[in-house]
Amino acid sequence: MTAVAIDGPAGAGKSTAARAAAKRLGYIYVDTGAMYRAVGVRMLALGISPKESGRVEEALKGLSVSLRFTEEGQRVLLNGEDVTGLIRTPEASRAASDFSALPCVRSFLLGLQQDLAKTNSVVMDGRDVGTVVLPWAQVKIFLTASPEERARRRHQELLEKGEAPSYEEILSDMLARDYQDSHREIAPLRPASDAVLLDSTGLTLDEVVERIVGLVRKKEA
Ligand code: DC
Repeated sequence: MTAVAIDGPAGAGKSTAARAAAKRLGYIYVDTGAMYRAVGVRMLALGISPKESGRVEEALKGLSVSLRFTEEGQRVLLNGEDVTGLIRTPEASRAASDFSALPCVRSFLLGLQQDLAKTNSVVMDGRDVGTVVLPWAQVKIFLTASPEERARRRHQELLEKGEAPSYEEILSDMLARDYQDSHREIAPLRPASDAVLLDSTGLTLDEVVERIVGLVRKKEA
């Protein structure tokens, strides 16, 4: 099995690049952020706050998160129900970041993430894949881009979907989430000591994918 770990801040283009690289390599693409989003959305629906770690722990007991891999990409299932379409809202982003700081939430998802990489070659993206989930990954990449570029791309994406939050709102949400994800006690966002740093500012998607696939091919040689 080969594992490629891609970590980095929100909006660096991880998921688009990881999905395309996985397709080129014939690996499965695992979006760990989607799992945190699914948990966050469920906690919001149950009216639980991230401050109530006891209630979160209790709620996790009745929860199953699973992934289904289709030609069109990864689907996220919450207790068997497909929630893929519900997890991309700004509220879900915030909830994912808030609840992901809790140790019980992280350990709930860790085993599932590790199991996927034991039985499949994967490109997995997130915040702690190279440092905590798959420290043995053969290729680790820390993908960044300037905050302005990241916010500009996310703004464009949302406009194309017909949604229109302001650029300033996206930038400030993104910076707040990055701060929270990098400063939490457990599994904070940071590059693994053996990660290759890749700044995608000014690069096209194809160039980023080419770099990722090139690093994998070099390892295989
Ligand atoms: O990649 P994303 O934007 O979908 O992730 C949403 C949130 O989930 C992110 O702000 C922090 C959390 N997350 C995490 O803590 N660890 C991961 N491996 C992936 C995501």
